[in-house]
Amino acid sequence: MSVVILVSILLTVLVWAAFLQRNRRKNEPPLDRGFIPWLGHALEFGRDAAAFLTRMKAKHGDVFTVQVAGRFVTVLLDPFSYDHVVWESSNKLDFGKYAKILMERMFDVTLPDFDPAVEKAMLRSHLQNQNLPSLTRTMFRNLSTILNDGSMSATTWQEDGLFNFTYGVMLRAGYLTLFGSESVQLSAPGRDLQHSLHVYREFRKFDQLLMKSARGILSAAEKKEAALLKENLWQLLDANTLRRRANRSSWLEAYQHHLEELKVPRDMQSRAMLLQLWATQGNAGPAAFWLLLFLLKHPEAMAAIEGELKMMLQKVKGLEEIGQSELESATIFNSVLEESLRLTAAPFITREVLTDLPLRLVDGTEYLLRRGDRLCLFPYVSPQMDQEIHPEPQVFRYNRFLNADGTEKREFYKKGRRVKHFTMPWGAGANVCMGRFHAITSSIKLFVWLLILNFEFELKNPAEGIPDFDRSRYGFGVLQPDGDVQFRYRRRSHPGRL
Ligand code: HEM
Repeated sequence: MSVVILVSILLTVLVWAAFLQRNRRKNEPPLDRGFIPWLGHALEFGRDAAAFLTRMKAKHGDVFTVQVAGRFVTVLLDPFSYDHVVWESSNKLDFGKYAKILMERMFDVTLPDFDPAVEKAMLRSHLQNQNLPSLTRTMFRNLSTILNDGSMSATTWQEDGLFNFTYGVMLRAGYLTLFGSESVQLSAPGRDLQHSLHVYREFRKFDQLLMKSARGILSAAEKKEAALLKENLWQLLDANTLRRRANRSSWLEAYQHHLEELKVPRDMQSRAMLLQLWATQGNAGPAAFWLLLFLLKHPEAMAAIEGELKMMLQKVKGLEEIGQSELESATIFNSVLEESLRLTAAPFITREVLTDLPLRLVDGTEYLLRRGDRLCLFPYVSPQMDQEIHPEPQVFRYNRFLNADGTEKREFYKKGRRVKHFTMPWGAGANVCMGRFHAITSSIKLFVWLLILNFEFELKNPAEGIPDFDRSRYGFGVLQPDGDVQFRYRRRSHPGRL
């Protein structure tokens, strides 16, 4: 009897699911629901989005809709069509709705009247243009202080994981630059060194739980650990504590003022600050790691970078004297960074579809996007790993973004047509990363140059291959390795000279 009841319940559920299930309408992209009702492709998507989307692209082409945990996500992988999406008005394709979901799920942040466009417009100037030279100077000072400290200043060989070392130095210097220092006295940086190390250690542990937190799959023990880490970080980033810090950046002043104007309570302000710490520091350290690793694996690239640096230093006494525009114009370095980011930056660009919307591809095909679905671009698959645009896309070529005459290369083609978005580590359009100039010029470049000028460094096991990616991080910016790479370093006996 019970078996009969069970079978009839199962049949009813299946008939109900078949009745409710979504079908492809005329002009909509190919629909792939997966085999598991409701869940669809969620498991494969979360496990390795790049492999999954590459498989779907081979099956369906550049546009398709997949079911993921009850949601329908239309994926667009045609770089010629990206401009339609990234510049579409926010009352058709909305950026804020999904951002709000993630803010709440990962950082427990809900802001009243939060409008990302208004916030971006207000903050943009503080990380760009006329503020860049002062950010560069502060970053230079903080990087130098950290790299001069304790064991890092020893002339005997020291060992560390390259990822831990790089992320640590970059996050600590970036944090001190934007969030200010413990005291006005920059000549006695002991407290800043200790405090920033503490922030880094807490942040790293939290960062390691973030992907599971974004997907809502933390175990009970991990949830407890994440809650504790957040409490600690919120305390470190308490609004009043931050207000008392010295040498605060104009970005921090403006952001705190903005939160006050929105009448955000003090505890919510600390949460928003942790979100900002992640947004401003979560990518540059991992990006610097990959760049250094590629340099260590490709001596010809290291030699080219050193040659360019030597040339620059012929005109000035030291790195601190190089002007902002010369810093920006280091074309070999820029190409190495572009190539390194092409291989390792993998953000999703996500929009909520607020109204039924036509999407015309470059070949003239027109698809209809359905209201209520989510639209997702994944530039890592195309253009970045597209072999038509970048031959041998898996291979690191330091001069891929250089013309034969040494100028910056910006012309790339697919099917005979010039591709505007030939790489997209920073996103594009209205939501492009506003910290990208600070990240390139005043952070990654300065750090790598300071390291080259002041240290000898080498891989501990040069024969070891490049580590695999932590595949759970696809979609969230610069990837991280699934294990660290040991290296050793020692201060040069004549630092500052090559
Ligand atoms: C290699 C380093 C970096 C990469 C690859 C990167 C990439 C990105 C990407 C892809 C986005 C999202 C764009 C979108 O959603 O369409 C973004 C947003 C953002 N980035 Fe960066 N970024 C980097 C470093 C930085 C730095 C150093 C700062 C600041 C000092 C910064 C500040 C921001 C901010 C404030 C946002 C907006 C966040 C939001 O409103 O939710 N980024 N970045």
